[in-house]
Amino acid sequence: MFKHILVAFDGSTYSQQALPTAIEFALKFDSDVLVEHVSEHDRGRAVVYSSESPADATRLVGDAVKQIRDAGITAKGHVSDVGTGHVAKAIMETANANNIDLIVMGSRGLSDVQGLLLGSITHKVIQMATIPVLVDRTRGVKELNAEAAPQATRKGALVTG
Ligand SMILES: Nc1ncnc2c1ncn2[C@@H]1O[C@H](COP(=O)(O)OP(=O)(O)O)[C@@H](O)[C@H]1O
Ligand SMILES: [Mg+2]
Repeated sequence: MFKHILVAFDGSTYSQQALPTAIEFALKFDSDVLVEHVSEHDRGRAVVYSSESPADATRLVGDAVKQIRDAGITAKGHVSDVGTGHVAKAIMETANANNIDLIVMGSRGLSDVQGLLLGSITHKVIQMATIPVLVDRTRGVKELNAEAAPQATRKGALVTG
């Protein structure tokens, strides 16, 4: 079990936090790790455009693969280029093609939508998957820093017994 792990990596702080989690599993279960990045494209009026170049995507995946290899784990990277709107499907296709038996991903990603418990890609992958999906809810560094910032004193009644 968990011999072939896929980490879905979009470069967000959430997915960066998922890497050490995947590394721990891989060390424990003697697994290899596949870092999957799907190049997302936005649809403009007439054209499909992306701010991410193929070189950016390769570099992103390469850095993650290096981090995993540095821990002594067999790792490789894969970039899927899908056009628009099929990120979760691409993740599942890569998982199926590589006999993956565990998917590790962040709970959130690059979107700046506040208040969402679960990003849409994570939501879709959980729905589509027929293998275990580990959603790492460790929060991103940015969010942890925000929490560490001084907060207004909470007002409330003190109830004693
Ligand atoms: N393009 C992508 N390629 C690979 N993994 C992705 C991609 N987009 C999202 N993920 C995975 O899904 C997780 C949640 O991201 P997502 O559902 O897109 O949330 P958000 O809506 O906040 O962007 C990420 O932490 C990452 O593990
Ligand atoms: Mg996203």
